[in-house]
Amino acid sequence: MPVLRQIALLGNPVLRTPARPVPFPLSDEVRELIDDMLATMREADGVGIAAPQVHQSLAIFIVAPRPNPRYPDAVEGPPIVAINPEIVERSAEMVRGWEGCLSIPGLRGEVPRHRRILARYQDVRGEHVVREFEDFPARIFQHEDDHLRGVVFLDRMDDLRDLACEREYARRVAKG
Ligand code: NI
Repeated sequence: MPVLRQIALLGNPVLRTPARPVPFPLSDEVRELIDDMLATMREADGVGIAAPQVHQSLAIFIVAPRPNPRYPDAVEGPPIVAINPEIVERSAEMVRGWEGCLSIPGLRGEVPRHRRILARYQDVRGEHVVREFEDFPARIFQHEDDHLRGVVFLDRMDDLRDLACEREYARRVAKG
């Protein structure tokens, strides 16, 4: 049975520490960690989570897009578990979009991201995957990949005036 893990909050050094690569085959501990990350992300209503956010400095994250008010057309698919990921190409085109983070509760910020990326990672069996992401899934991938490098979305904002408390964000997004 998966266990809910405690989420590291902004200010915790683990969020600023580059994550270590994960060796294959995966150990039982790492398999349990991945199951627990999924459960913890779902419980917190997140669309992604990275291992450092549950106090494990390992290069693993989950991307799990689903429709939300900002991305009503987001396609809900099976969660992607990305191990030892690397973004190998980034589109010149940037798009701004609202992001939140389980490690930064209560805040949302408008963050510029590459609209399209080409990423390489390993799945849970150790198979190498090369895959293109665009729009919302690309945004989540970049956000989670940052977590493995000790970067949070606040660092990617070009204007901190585009930061909002969740209640104000909800009001703004409702207005469109
Ligand atoms: Ni985050």
